[in-house]
Formats: sequence, C-alpha cells, structure tokens
Amino acid sequence: LDRLDGPKPLAGKRVVITAGPTREPIDPVRYITNHSSGKMGYALAGAARDAGADVVLVSGPVTLDCPPGVRRESVNTAEEMLQAAEAAVEAGCDLFIATAAVADYRPETCAGDKIKKSRGSMSLALVRNPDTLATIAARADKPFTVGFAAETRDVEHYARDKMARKQLDMIVANDVSRPGLGFNSDHNAVTVFWQTGSRTFEPASKPALARDLLTLIAQQAFPLDA
Ligand code: CTP
Ligand code: CA
Repeated sequence: LDRLDGPKPLAGKRVVITAGPTREPIDPVRYITNHSSGKMGYALAGAARDAGADVVLVSGPVTLDCPPGVRRESVNTAEEMLQAAEAAVEAGCDLFIATAAVADYRPETCAGDKIKKSRGSMSLALVRNPDTLATIAARADKPFTVGFAAETRDVEHYARDKMARKQLDMIVANDVSRPGLGFNSDHNAVTVFWQTGSRTFEPASKPALARDLLTLIAQQAFPLDA
C-alpha cells in the first residue's frame, strides 16, 4: 500500500533502463559474458514504475521475472542492446539508466559450426562493442542520462572520469572490492556523483536502494516538478 499510495516523483515520465549481461557468441554453443545478475536494474525498473513512470527494460539474459507493469525488450548481444535501447529512446524517453554489464569486446566472427578441440591451443580475435550509454548520451535529444560504474579502486576518480567522457548527468559507483555487495548479491552500497555534488548510500537491499536512488535521480533530473 505504501508503494501504491507513495509519492509519484516520476509521474508521466518515460524511463528506459538497461540491465543484465550481454552474450557474445563464439560458436553455436559458446559465448563470452560478464558477471551480472540483473538484480539492480530490475529493482530500479520496479521502483521507477512505483514512482509513476512508464518503464522499458532492455535486458540481457537473466533468470529474473519482468516486474509487473514494465515492458521488457530481451536481447543477447551488445549490438542488440544498442539497437533496442535506441528504438526505446526514439519512442520517447526522459530518463535513461544504464546498469547493464555489457561485454566490451565480441569475437570478430562467430563460427557456423562448433569449434572442435583438435588443436592444443587456440586464439580468439576480438573487436570492440558499441557503447550503448555513450551513444544515447551523445544524441541531440539526450534524455537525463545515468550510468553505473563498478570499480575495484580509486572509485571517485574513475567514476568522475567516466561521467565526463560519456557526457553523463550522473554516475552511480559501486566498489566491487567490498565483500558481500554488488555483483550477484541481494545488497549493494553505492556513491552517486554528479557535476555539483555526491551522495553515499549505506548498504541496503537492492529494492530499498533502488527506491532511494530514484528519489535522488528524480530531484536532480526534474527539479521543477518537485
Ligand atoms: N556501458 C554501455 N555499453 C557498453 C559498455 C558500458 O552501455 N558497451 C555502460 C554500462 O551499462 C555502465 C557504464 O557504461 O552504465 C560504465 O560501464 P563500465 O564497463 O564501467 O565502463 P567502460 O566505459 O566499459 O570502461 P571499462 O570497462 O574499461 O572500465
Ligand atoms: Ca566495460
């Protein structure tokens, strides 16, 4: 009831969120991927819906159910994620949040048949994947854009550097070297940076953290609506 009757800081807003890992095929039975349960992105999608937004969740392969009332676009590769995110943003988007753990590289070619282990070793040629978040942030009709950064050291330095390079409005940094938090965990602790400020959130369940994060994001993104 709290959820149904609570404040609706994102009423009437269109929100697009990327979540989960991507899978880059090597051959019909193998792929390259990253650690990512999708839990933080899915929690944000549910919290954005509770805050009154119209939500599209562009999701890589995860085992989570789509939150009720959220539209999910399922993808596998980084290239598919970019395509689906651009289509969703083109349909109208006020706030874009990238939580996906996108594979930075993909195999240059995908073998048509299963590769056999006939040789003692093999090497794989990799090429860079497109950056969904940077591409959305570079659009003329750029929505308020929020990135995530998982770092193991110098968290503020790397997070602020990413925010500047990708022209983000905000970045949510988590220190993945902290045990029991972040990847695959049900809990997370983050620090959010924006041009003129920062805020640290103590460890909390991902749904609770998602709600508090969205409150802060809505204040920064849509200050006149308050
Ligand atoms: N991201 C994205 N598309 C990519 C790579 C990253 O949309 N191809 C987004 C992620 O969803 C995240 C942010 O960019 O919100 C930062 O991702 P991260 O992997 O930390 O940054 P990179 O720019 O890939 O730099 P590096 O991995 O070298 O630290
Ligand atoms: Ca990366």
